[in-house]
Amino acid sequence: MIKVSQVSKIFPHSNYAVREVSFSVQSGQIAALVGKSGCGKTTTLKMINRLIEPSSGEIWVGGKKASELDVISWRRRIGYVIQKAGLLPHLTIEENISLLSKVLAKDKNWIKKRVQQLMHTIQLPYEDYADRYPLQLSGGQQQRVGIARALMENPDVILMDEPFGALDPMTKADLHQEFLDLNQKFNKTIVIVTHDLREAFKLASHIMIMNEGVIVQQGSEKQIKSQPVNEFVQKFLKGHL
Ligand SMILES: Nc1ncnc2c1ncn2[C@@H]1O[C@H](COP(=O)(O)OP(=O)(O)O)[C@@H](O)[C@H]1O
Ligand SMILES: [Mg+2]
Repeated sequence: MIKVSQVSKIFPHSNYAVREVSFSVQSGQIAALVGKSGCGKTTTLKMINRLIEPSSGEIWVGGKKASELDVISWRRRIGYVIQKAGLLPHLTIEENISLLSKVLAKDKNWIKKRVQQLMHTIQLPYEDYADRYPLQLSGGQQQRVGIARALMENPDVILMDEPFGALDPMTKADLHQEFLDLNQKFNKTIVIVTHDLREAFKLASHIMIMNEGVIVQQGSEKQIKSQPVNEFVQKFLKGHL
C-alpha cells in the first residue's frame, strides 16, 4: 500500500512544483497520475521513490514511513521505470536488467536465471536479446526491458514514468495489453504517470488528475466522467475523449 499525505515540493528559487498532494493506492491496485507537461507528475513519483525529498508531508509504503528508513532500504522495495526506458547505452540488455542485483551482490546463478525468466515474460528470448545493446532494440522493446529491470528484485511497488510515451499507437496498444496481463500475473501495487487520460482510464482503477502541482480530482473513471469537479476537468475530459 502507498499513502501520500499532504506532500509538497518547492525547488530552490521557484514556487510550488507539487502542493499538498494526498492519495492512497491499495495493495494490488493500479493508480494513474495524469496531467499536462510540467504539472508535477514526475516530481510526485520521484518523491515516492525518494529521488527527491519532499519539502513537507509524509509518505508511507507498505506500512513504513519514508522518514523512518534509510534511502537504500527504502528503494529496494520499489521498482522504478524511468521516462523513455532510461537504459544505460553502454551495457547489454542482460547487464541493464541485472544491474541492481549485482550492486546488491546477489548470487550469479540466481541472477542469470532471474534474467532469463523475466526476458521470457517480456517476450524477448534470452538467447536472441541478452547480448544486444539498447540501441539495437526498438522503442517498444526497450520499454519492456525497462519494465523487466524494475521487476528484477521483485518489489511490491512499481512506479512508472510515462512508460508508454513516444510509441506508435499499435505498439502502444500491444504493450498496454501486455502490461495488464503481466500485472494479473504479478499483482503489484503500481503508480503510472501519463499525460494521456485515455491510457489512464484503460490501465488504472484510480485516476488522479493534476494541474499546476495540485491534484484537482481523483476517483474512478466513472466518478470523474459523471461528476467532473470543475471546468478544468471538464475541458481535460473533452480534450482527451
Ligand atoms: N530539479 C528541479 N529544479 C527546479 N524546478 C524543477 C525541478 N524539477 C522539476 N521542476 C519544475 O517543477 C514543475 C513540475 O515538473 P515535473 O514534475 O517534471 O512535471 P511533469 O512530470 O508533470 O511534466 C515544473 O515547473 C518544473 O519546471
Ligand atoms: Mg514528467
